[in-house]
Amino acid sequence: MTKIASDERPVVSILTLGCKLNQSDSERIARRLAGEGVRVVDRMVPGVWGVIVNSCSVTHVADRKARRLVRQARKLSPDAQIVLTGCYAETAPADIAAMTGADFVLRNLEKPQIADRLLEKLAKDGDPAAGCPTPRANPLRTRAFVKIQEGCNELCAFCIVPYTRGREESVPIEDVVQQVEARETEGVLEVVLTGTQLGNYGRDLGWTREEQGPRWLLAELLARTSVPRIRLSSLQAQDISPELLDLWRDERLCPHFHLPLQSGSDAVLGPMRRRYTSAEYRDAVSLIRERVPNVAVTTDVIAGFPGETAADFEATLSLCQEMGFAAMHCFPYSRRPHTGAEQMRGHLPPSIRRERLERLLAVAERSSIAFRQSLLGQTAMVLWEAPDSRLPSSNFLLPGAERQEVASGLTGNYVRVYTRAIAARQNSLRRTRLTGLHADGMLGELSEDANGKH
Ligand code: F3S
Repeated sequence: MTKIASDERPVVSILTLGCKLNQSDSERIARRLAGEGVRVVDRMVPGVWGVIVNSCSVTHVADRKARRLVRQARKLSPDAQIVLTGCYAETAPADIAAMTGADFVLRNLEKPQIADRLLEKLAKDGDPAAGCPTPRANPLRTRAFVKIQEGCNELCAFCIVPYTRGREESVPIEDVVQQVEARETEGVLEVVLTGTQLGNYGRDLGWTREEQGPRWLLAELLARTSVPRIRLSSLQAQDISPELLDLWRDERLCPHFHLPLQSGSDAVLGPMRRRYTSAEYRDAVSLIRERVPNVAVTTDVIAGFPGETAADFEATLSLCQEMGFAAMHCFPYSRRPHTGAEQMRGHLPPSIRRERLERLLAVAERSSIAFRQSLLGQTAMVLWEAPDSRLPSSNFLLPGAERQEVASGLTGNYVRVYTRAIAARQNSLRRTRLTGLHADGMLGELSEDANGKH
């Protein structure tokens, strides 16, 4: 296809909901479009030529968000080509296109065709979207999401993902290495390896648990690439072993483990079909803390799974307090179609689920504050991103600063750090002193000069 001249490039907004798997899918589509000269933004802007809503269906709230985004996009860009894809597109009712105003509803499996379909349409449309707003700097640099595995074979009773994403399928090591090398060449400084069950990496390629697919993959990436940071999006408690953790001696692996807990009661973990007990979870976290300095452990917890008693919930609260998580994603249980729990007995009324959620959120807040307070005065390497004009609320602004004057970045242990944009160097790893708590993260002062020297 002939590349489009730069002064008439149309804008496609890609709006991503849900997990890091969706983020890596969106990045792939964005790269393909950008490669053909299409300007891509990762936020809602009026008057665009195309919109892709990459949806999630993990709760009914996620479904609602997807529908709302499509409607908003239609309102702001009445003539746009609107694509609804992602996990909600897998479960959405047949009349969803008519309900929301989407032009195409495409399933997860059809994602690789989205860019081509838009590009074909664009070729037919001729003169595209004049007067589109100029997007901020290319959002693809700094951090990149590389999918190493798709699908899930685990069938946890609450989870719709095996239905929306199908069976596990690992990306061969050679392909992953090539993708990471390509990102490195583009100047990406952090690669986030994504998948639903990273600990099962390689099983479908014939490797046994003993052969430890994720360990092999990480060892190869460390040996054959030199991207400064590699982060794993999540692991399960049963995946943690001393051999795997030995790899974290290499500081390029981020000291951040997202280890979903879901419940702290064995009486709930069983029916949830999780593969660990609360004691095994506790042991996994202790092992991580023993072997990985400055580590952040983050988690997911569900409030009000069917049959969860008050005592079960107290066990969850108490384990969460004991674990001192750096961050917790807490959700009220949401009844999802096609899941084992859908037909279980003992579904709890929304008021109880909400009340338990509130109590979990209070623990999460205290825990996150305590973790960040433990870092006060320390120096950390922060990967600074583009000055952020999308900061979600005034809580994120520094006193007296305008939105575009605030930059933010991430530490290796996943703390968001804010500073004045003028002091930060976009897309650079800089030694930074953590001076205070701010909004969801911390304030930082760069302790290197512009050449990266102390
Ligand atoms: Fe949501 Fe699908 Fe990810 S349901 S959490 S976007 S796998």
